[in-house]
This record gives sequence, C-alpha cells and structure tokens, in this order.
Amino acid sequence: MPIHTCHILSHERLSGDVYRLKFVSEPICRGAQPGQFVHIRADVQSDPLLPRPFSIHDIDREVMGVEILFQVVGSGTRILSSKRKGESIEVLGPLGRGFGVDHERRISVLVAGGIGLAPFPFLIKRLRESGHSVFVLAGWKTVEEIVGLERIESSGASVDVATEDGRRGSCGTVTKLLNTRLRAGDFGSESEIGLYACGPGAMLATVAHMARQYNVPCQVSLEERMACGVGACYGCAVLAADRENACPEYKLVCKDGPVFDMNEVCLK
Ligand SMILES: Cc1cc2nc3c(=O)[nH]c(=O)nc-3n(C[C@H](O)[C@H](O)[C@H](O)COP(=O)(O)OP(=O)(O)OC[C@H]3O[C@@H](n4cnc5c(N)ncnc54)[C@H](O)[C@@H]3O)c2cc1C
Ligand code: FES
Repeated sequence: MPIHTCHILSHERLSGDVYRLKFVSEPICRGAQPGQFVHIRADVQSDPLLPRPFSIHDIDREVMGVEILFQVVGSGTRILSSKRKGESIEVLGPLGRGFGVDHERRISVLVAGGIGLAPFPFLIKRLRESGHSVFVLAGWKTVEEIVGLERIESSGASVDVATEDGRRGSCGTVTKLLNTRLRAGDFGSESEIGLYACGPGAMLATVAHMARQYNVPCQVSLEERMACGVGACYGCAVLAADRENACPEYKLVCKDGPVFDMNEVCLK
C-alpha cells in the first residue's frame, strides 16, 4: 500500500490538547470504512521515526477530505499538532478492519470513553445511511474534558452524556449509564440492539460484560502501541479469546482489528 503525501485542508484546536485535522486523500476517502485507521507521520525530517495511528473520524466526499480527532500525549502528536493548513503529512491507509454494520440489528448503541469518540461521526453516517436508529452514550471524567460532542449532536443520533464529576449529563461512568438504559429498556427490544464501543480497555471489558448479560452482540475497537501498522512486526499482538486452546493464540490489532467482535479477544 503506497504512502500518500497529503495536504492539510484545515486544522483546529478544539480544546486544550485536542485537535481536529482534515487532509486531502481521494483514495482514502473513497476506500475507508468506519473504524479503520490511518498511520500518520507528521514530519519526515525529525523524530519520532515511526508513524502514529489515528481512527478515521469523518470523511468529506465533496473535497475528498479525511478527518482525524486527536489528543496530544507525546512527541508524535505534539509535532502533528504544530502542523498548519497548507502543509503536508505522510499518510498510510486506510488500514485494518473497521466496524461491521449489523443489518439484523437496526438499533445501534455506540459507547465512547473520552477520545474514544473519534471514530463515531463516520460510523454514525454509515449506520444512518443503512436506516439504523443510533444512540450514542459518551463519557468523560470531568466536564472540562468534553470535546468533539457537537459533531455527534448534529449527526441525527440521540446523544446521552455521562461525567464522573456529575457536572453534565448523568453522574458516573458511561458504563453505569449504559447499564441504566439497558435495564430500563430505553433503546427498544434487546433482540434489535447492536453495541459498538471505543475507549479505554477497562471500559470495553465492562461493555462486553453487559453485552453478554443482555445477550446483545458487541464490537469493540482496541488500541495498542503500533510500529508497522500492517501486520509485519507483531508489535500490536493481543491475546485471542480461545480459552479452550492450551496454546495461546494472538490477534494483530493493526490487521485483524482494530475492531473485533467481543468474543474474539481477551478484554482486560
Ligand atoms: C488503531 C488506533 C487508533 C487510534 N486512534 C486515535 C484517535 O483517533 N485519536 C487519538 O487521539 N489517539 C488515537 N490513538 C492513539 C494514538 O495513536 C497515540 O496517542 C499516539 O500514537 C501517541 O503518539 P505520541 O508520539 O504522541 O506519544 P508517545 O510518546 O508514543 O506516547 C505517549 C504516552 O502515550 C502512551 N501511548 C501511546 N500510544 C498508545 C496506544 N496506542 N495505546 C495506549 N497508550 C499509548 C504511551 O505509553 C505513553 O505513555 C489510536 C491508536 C490506535 C492503535
Ligand atoms: S503494528 Fe506491526 S504487526 Fe501490528
């Protein structure tokens, strides 16, 4: 797969350390599926040498734009945050396996923790095009951390927020909110619900646990540190969930995922 040199169309700071960047790439825009990711190197001249993975946040077919939503956590994301409109970045993608649209289950419940919201605008578009009712539950620790929500709110999905400081939406974690809504039957018949989750590992494990309790299918998007991004280095291996097998098996997050059925991998 070729590396594309892509021009930055827009780059905005949404909050203290979170940015939304849009670059032009016709092949990625045409080929991408929700939940897939792109591997980006912000600066060919400097560190870090390795590209960094980011979920495809949204696509804009009118201008062949591809968007990412990212949080600055280290040197790679810091360099990316300093890029300006008109400059170029090196992009490999679209990579990995994205979310599958479950046509049997037309009530889609999307659960996000923090920056885990990133892949959802694109997924919501695809689900709504397929005629699904879409509910989004999004959680943050504090109200100050809330970011990227306006895109979700204008997407036609029904949106519910949870904050652990209780200053917006429901007080507590997003998984507590999910449990409350599932128990109350707020989304409709359980036999029509499909769950899609992206966020920290512990959140994904809890969502999967609830999905089993309520007998609904669940897809989870995993994050692992990556090097090659294309299945060559085995740097992103996670334990597969085949507990019957004495010899442990592994899945590659970059190639077999990042989206997995909850029963395919060990969630922790
Ligand atoms: C498939 C995939 C999709 C992703 N999508 C997004 C996205 O849409 N938006 C976004 O903000 N981030 C996303 N990430 C995470 C993002 O890739 C990392 O934050 C980024 O690579 C950090 O690079 P850095 O050089 O700034 O930080 P580094 O200097 O490499 O690391 C800084 C700190 O972050 C930790 N860290 C780095 N990468 C990861 C990781 N993958 N998982 C857990 N901890 C990590 C390190 O252990 C270290 O503590 C995604 C990761 C994957 C694997
Ligand atoms: S990052 Fe190299 S195999 Fe996944």
